[in-house]
Amino acid sequence: MDKSKLTAMARTKPSKPLQGLLSNPVLLNSPILDFGCGRGMDVDTLNYGGFPAIGYDPNNPVYTAFPRGTFPTVLMFYVLNVLRPVDRSVVLRRAWSHVKPGGRLIIATRPISCVSQHARRAERDGKPWKACSDGFLTGTGTFQCGLDYAQLSYLIKGLPNLWDSYRFPPQKFGKACACVIKAPR
Ligand SMILES: C[S@@+](CC[C@H](N)C(=O)[O-])C[C@H]1O[C@@H](n2cnc3c(N)ncnc32)[C@H](O)[C@@H]1O
Repeated sequence: MDKSKLTAMARTKPSKPLQGLLSNPVLLNSPILDFGCGRGMDVDTLNYGGFPAIGYDPNNPVYTAFPRGTFPTVLMFYVLNVLRPVDRSVVLRRAWSHVKPGGRLIIATRPISCVSQHARRAERDGKPWKACSDGFLTGTGTFQCGLDYAQLSYLIKGLPNLWDSYRFPPQKFGKACACVIKAPR
């Protein structure tokens, strides 16, 4: 069983990265694909807010239909940090293949400091996480790691047809590390 489905949080509010994007929605060109949408809170928020969006998540039966075609904006929030190193570039490329020429892939990850802090808290609470590869196996058996800008830029540089990429202002994204990756026209 793929335990990464257990990583999808039941959100009461949209994710911090989406809140940041909605505060100045210049980067949100519809239709939007939320790749690895978890329970779909961000997809619903976008649709209610007038930004037509669809979600894809291999572990949520509501969203398992593989998206067809390309999109001007593809979001990928907190997905790379639940994947083992061997899968990260494959899944990133898959998301990238859905970006329309001239469009953007916007990714956000949990930084290393945030995941390490979580691991220390679990240890204090008597439910220690186990070190595994470059991250941890949590109490529920899910894999979690932190990815900072250094790791993100390494992954991004491996993408074909990359036009530009830049850090998104961090204050807009809570604690997440976030990058905007642009495809050529
Ligand atoms: C931490 S959750 C984040 C969910 C959502 N983006 C959010 O912010 O609420 C990570 C998600 O990545 C999804 N995932 C795992 N492997 C994936 C893959 N190969 N392609 C797309 N999504 C994947 C999991 O099913 C899970 O829902």
